Amino acid sequence: MRRDFVLFVFGFYEAEKIKMDIHEAKFFKEFLNMTFLSYSNGWNERNGGNMSYRLSDKDSEEVIENFSFDRDWAEIGASVPGLKNEYFMVTGSGKYFRNTKSDPENNVAIIKIDDTGTKYKIVWGLESGGRPTSELPTHLMNHEVKKKQTDGRYRVIYHAHPVNLIALTYVLKQDTKVFTTELWDSMTECPIVFPKGVAVIPWMVPGGREIAVRTSELIKDYDIVVWCFHGAFVSGEDFDSAFGLMETVEKAAEIVVKVRSMGGKKYHLSKDDIMSLAKPYNVDINGDLVTDI
Ligand code: 13P
Ligand code: ZN
Repeated sequence: MRRDFVLFVFGFYEAEKIKMDIHEAKFFKEFLNMTFLSYSNGWNERNGGNMSYRLSDKDSEEVIENFSFDRDWAEIGASVPGLKNEYFMVTGSGKYFRNTKSDPENNVAIIKIDDTGTKYKIVWGLESGGRPTSELPTHLMNHEVKKKQTDGRYRVIYHAHPVNLIALTYVLKQDTKVFTTELWDSMTECPIVFPKGVAVIPWMVPGGREIAVRTSELIKDYDIVVWCFHGAFVSGEDFDSAFGLMETVEKAAEIVVKVRSMGGKKYHLSKDDIMSLAKPYNVDINGDLVTDI
């Protein structure tokens, strides 16, 4: 009798759990908060930038009753077999970060990847039409790399157009070592927050497979890849770490812009200074990326 009662309560709890309104789900709220915050920081003008989050099994179990599987499969434009059957929350192509929080139904989507890793289907959102971000190939190829590399820990890929970082791509040599040294040498926290450095790729046409392949090659070794004259892609375990990385790199870039506007750096953190942060902060700083200071 007692066991039956426990099973009944547990069954009721489980039933309630999966009936969660998607608007109440933690990942959903965090995604929308982050897109709005990123817009508020001035990094997502108009439809600039895009974001994707790989749902955990728990996330999808909680909200699956909100999904509908009636829409057609569409081509991803890339092959990501390592993501077969996964669900992603993504921003829509041409949709504004400014509007995602107030109107998620029409500006974001949840998609499911098919079991070949070449197609996706919208299962929630984009109700008035549209498709996921044009950078979907880059998002998914980056997810595939990071999922494998981190044993599934990394779930967020985020692209924005941060002002100062873009400005620096017109002035600094478009080179991973040059950018990494300049940014590490602009604020003490930088080598601690991004000890692997900042990768840089020269200008390429956005939105296709070619830039996706190039970015996903670099995201293996760096959590942030700068797209010259365009913006940056970051990857992270969760929303906080992805946003925090963009925030720190952009702040460092702003300091570089300000210091250069005041005539340039007169003093520097030396390579030894930078490397001396590794032990006390328990981070593996890639010293090979420090150019002569
Ligand atoms: P989407 O509107 O297709 O996401 O494109 C915005 C963007 O920033 C392209 O790089
Ligand atoms: Zn962009």
